[in-house]
Amino acid sequence: MTDAAQGFFADYITRTGERSLMKWLHYFDVYDRELGRLRGRPLTFLEIGIFRGGSIPMWAEYFAPGSRLVFADIDPACAALEIPGTHVRIGNQADPAFLSALAEEFGPFDVVLDDGSHLCHHQIASCEGLWPHLADGGLYVVEDCHTSYWPGFGGGHRAPGSFIEYAKGLIDVMHSWYTEDDAVFPVDPRARAIEAVRFYDSIVVLEKRLRANRPTSFVSRNGVVTTTQRPLDIRGRRSMFAGRDGG
Ligand SMILES: C[S@@+](CC[C@H](N)C(=O)[O-])C[C@H]1O[C@@H](n2cnc3c(N)ncnc32)[C@H](O)[C@@H]1O
Repeated sequence: MTDAAQGFFADYITRTGERSLMKWLHYFDVYDRELGRLRGRPLTFLEIGIFRGGSIPMWAEYFAPGSRLVFADIDPACAALEIPGTHVRIGNQADPAFLSALAEEFGPFDVVLDDGSHLCHHQIASCEGLWPHLADGGLYVVEDCHTSYWPGFGGGHRAPGSFIEYAKGLIDVMHSWYTEDDAVFPVDPRARAIEAVRFYDSIVVLEKRLRANRPTSFVSRNGVVTTTQRPLDIRGRRSMFAGRDGG
């Protein structure tokens, strides 16, 4: 663990009870970085994947009192792991009807954490099904993305269909405003909602932020700010600085 993880999580794992908790140590740094700023107010949180239920009391202690904490798993035995102030629901993370029912009962979600089967097609199905139900400013977090490199989970190095490849595709979606090639790379409506795609070791974080406008550039001179979206419509752009190295 690094210094950043010497806080809540490092302490918490020395205080667990009978319920075992399964995580990688380096995730604590990511949680601190991504979730730390959300601790100050009640939020709605959904974790997919319960197993022995070890993360339920951890998140209940981590997030602000009054938060709505929802946990989902395909294993009916997990229903018994609900603790006061939390909600457990049983279903398949790849089933759109189950995801819609979760969203209808508890959404929109400020944070979704996928720690379920780690099968790539499940991760993608959950992301597709739940992304519309993520709140503006919300985070969609997918754990154990190293399975994207394991054939047994639908992965492999640059395997089409892996979650990592899917997430890389969202980088293109986010930049589709800037396309010069509408035929093969048109503006994707999802660009209006993707604020960031962040890759950590084994964790992908998608941040949602609804934009009213296309990206806007500005020039400021003598304190006068002039904005424009014109660069988005220009085709055949060239760098105005090209050639300065003699090349
Ligand atoms: C890695 S464990 C969860 C660990 C738990 N979050 C923790 O921190 O201790 C994965 C869980 O995902 C569940 N799971 C597997 N396939 C699933 C599916 N299709 N839909 C929902 N949950 C699933 C398993 O039953 C298992 O309990």
